[in-house]
Amino acid sequence: MKITSIVNLKGGTGKTTTSVAMIELLSRKERVLGIDNDKQGNLSQAFKRYTPERMIGSSVMLLTGKTRGNILHTENPYIDIIPCNIYMEKAEKEVLLGNVAQHDRYQKALSELVGYERCIIDNPPDIGMNVVNALIASDEIIIPINLDNYSLDGMVEMMSQIQNITEINRKANLTGILITDFEKTEAALQAEEWLRKEYGKRIFSIKIRHSRQAKDATLCQVPVTQYSSRCGATQDYKKFIEEYLRRER
Ligand SMILES: Nc1ncnc2c1ncn2[C@@H]1O[C@H](COP(=O)(O)OP(=O)(O)O)[C@@H](O)[C@H]1O
Ligand SMILES: [Mg+2]
Repeated sequence: MKITSIVNLKGGTGKTTTSVAMIELLSRKERVLGIDNDKQGNLSQAFKRYTPERMIGSSVMLLTGKTRGNILHTENPYIDIIPCNIYMEKAEKEVLLGNVAQHDRYQKALSELVGYERCIIDNPPDIGMNVVNALIASDEIIIPINLDNYSLDGMVEMMSQIQNITEINRKANLTGILITDFEKTEAALQAEEWLRKEYGKRIFSIKIRHSRQAKDATLCQVPVTQYSSRCGATQDYKKFIEEYLRRER
């Protein structure tokens, strides 16, 4: 099972939208496990599997090393998910109080899983113990960025923080940086130029266009790629998957 973490330490950069789109598009060929690692539970909502009440049956339990009983089926037979909710905050504090090894719990729990070709982990905009765990379990990392959202500030620090964590144990590849929610303004074009100069081939050549349908899809709790097959964001996410799979080979 190939494990990919979608990460950015800032909020609103398209992490969840990208995770959900990747899960849905990849599920057309493979069995995919989606993990919601953000206590806001947006990925869980996108697959209609959010519940605020319990911590059993969520990624909170991954932190305690248990996968069994936490995986939920969705309406799509090729997609299962491990949801998340506010209990993650409490679990993280508890884990920090214990003094046994804490950073490889996801890795251990996920290594026992069979039946999935892919696992996509949607992360929150911070580096808590759950994110450290996700990064250490991951084979690769994708960073979505939104050029309009002060995303370029702190980019360098973020890259080095991520690198430090992945070096603790196993080196995850930075597969790439994906520009999301793109609107063609002079400022955005300048930001893109800077980014491509700075990070070169690490930036995916495809960009995800801003589409109203991406937001509408969240209200209906479905992936945008399912909500609208024709909107710009869906077309771009499809091309992104092609580029992503080409890079893999
Ligand atoms: N391509 C897009 N077009 C329009 N809106 C988008 C697009 N991508 C993301 N959004 C919207 O931007 C907001 C933040 O996206 P989200 O994926 O939730 O970011 P994050 O998970 O990084 O916080 C959401 O309201 C989402 O619907
Ligand atoms: Mg999110």
